[in-house]
Amino acid sequence: MTVEKRKLEHIEIISTQDVAHDYNYWDDIDIIQKSMPEVDYDEIDTSTTFLGRKLKLPILISSMTGGHPDTKKINENLARGAAESGIAMGVGSERAAIQNRAVGDSYSIVAEYDVPFRIANVGAPQLIRQKRDALTDSDIDYAVGLVKANALAVHFNFVQELSQPEGDRNSKGIKRRVGEISKKYKVIPKETGAGFSMQDALEFKQLGVAAIDVGGRSGTSFAAVESVRSRNREDSVKERIGRTFWNWGIPSPISLVLANVELPLIASGGVRTGLDVFRGIAMGATLGGLASTFLKAALQSDKEVSKLISQLETELKSAMLLTGCSKLSDVKKVQRIYRGRLIEWMNQI
Ligand SMILES: Cc1cc2nc3c(=O)[nH]c(=O)nc-3n(C[C@H](O)[C@H](O)[C@H](O)COP(=O)(O)O)c2cc1C
Repeated sequence: MTVEKRKLEHIEIISTQDVAHDYNYWDDIDIIQKSMPEVDYDEIDTSTTFLGRKLKLPILISSMTGGHPDTKKINENLARGAAESGIAMGVGSERAAIQNRAVGDSYSIVAEYDVPFRIANVGAPQLIRQKRDALTDSDIDYAVGLVKANALAVHFNFVQELSQPEGDRNSKGIKRRVGEISKKYKVIPKETGAGFSMQDALEFKQLGVAAIDVGGRSGTSFAAVESVRSRNREDSVKERIGRTFWNWGIPSPISLVLANVELPLIASGGVRTGLDVFRGIAMGATLGGLASTFLKAALQSDKEVSKLISQLETELKSAMLLTGCSKLSDVKKVQRIYRGRLIEWMNQI
């Protein structure tokens, strides 16, 4: 199966089936509100600075796609929305374009829009030798240049790799390679649904990364996605591995606590609303990242993407008003009440 074809299958499955983790831990964060907040909604400032670039909203369209001609329109819809509203955007794994430059324009389309922060993307497993060769320095230069990126996301997705028949199994040597690449680029390690631990975060910091995107458990489960793909292919062995690891990982809010090593953090994995973005910022993040929620809008039109961003903004500002926050730095001080399964994690980390 080609990388291009696989990407289309992911989009199809994620946009039509329930492949989320069974529990969204963001719902376990309640916020103490103020009935007399003394804030004017119209004066609320949602702007922030991320790795030296100014954004109008603390929102990231998480890495998703590119690599097949059909994905160009999705990236264009997302980029137009991101440019219009001043938010950050990542593209999906660029391996497809590195292997076949003919599909490069499905990624480079985002560089045609004035997106204030663009993030390139490569997979950690591809940085080292697998059954095929590792990406070279010039492959990585190409991936960053293709989208005129401000930073490079390196995605970690071993749960997914292990659940897919064509998955990469070797992880030896990744640390050294992340360290090398971090000397040249602003590297953002990102999980894709399983979250990072404190040890991961401390090691990343030592390797010189610029920020960390926790990509925790609460939203899209790539073990689930691969399980569905295997079921469609009648591969019962892989289908069961995907089902077994469907709910694997560190919940997103917990990963934010663990990964707080004085680097900018991105809250992602199951972020659906402006209230979830608010919760992520309260838990220490600079940005909230959403993937599957944006996918559904981008499959419709650029208008739907803009509508979604404006909805997220309204929800974020509403939460800010209700807690007396006139700027994002105030959000870190709001009082939170943890409940449900989140408490079980909090009590044991
Ligand atoms: C259709 C789709 C494709 C994705 N492809 C990539 C990818 O190529 N690279 C990557 O780093 N993450 C990829 N992701 C993972 C997301 O960036 C994100 O970490 C994950 O989906 C959790 O966010 P969510 O719960 O908001 O969907 C993809 C997600 C979706 C929905």
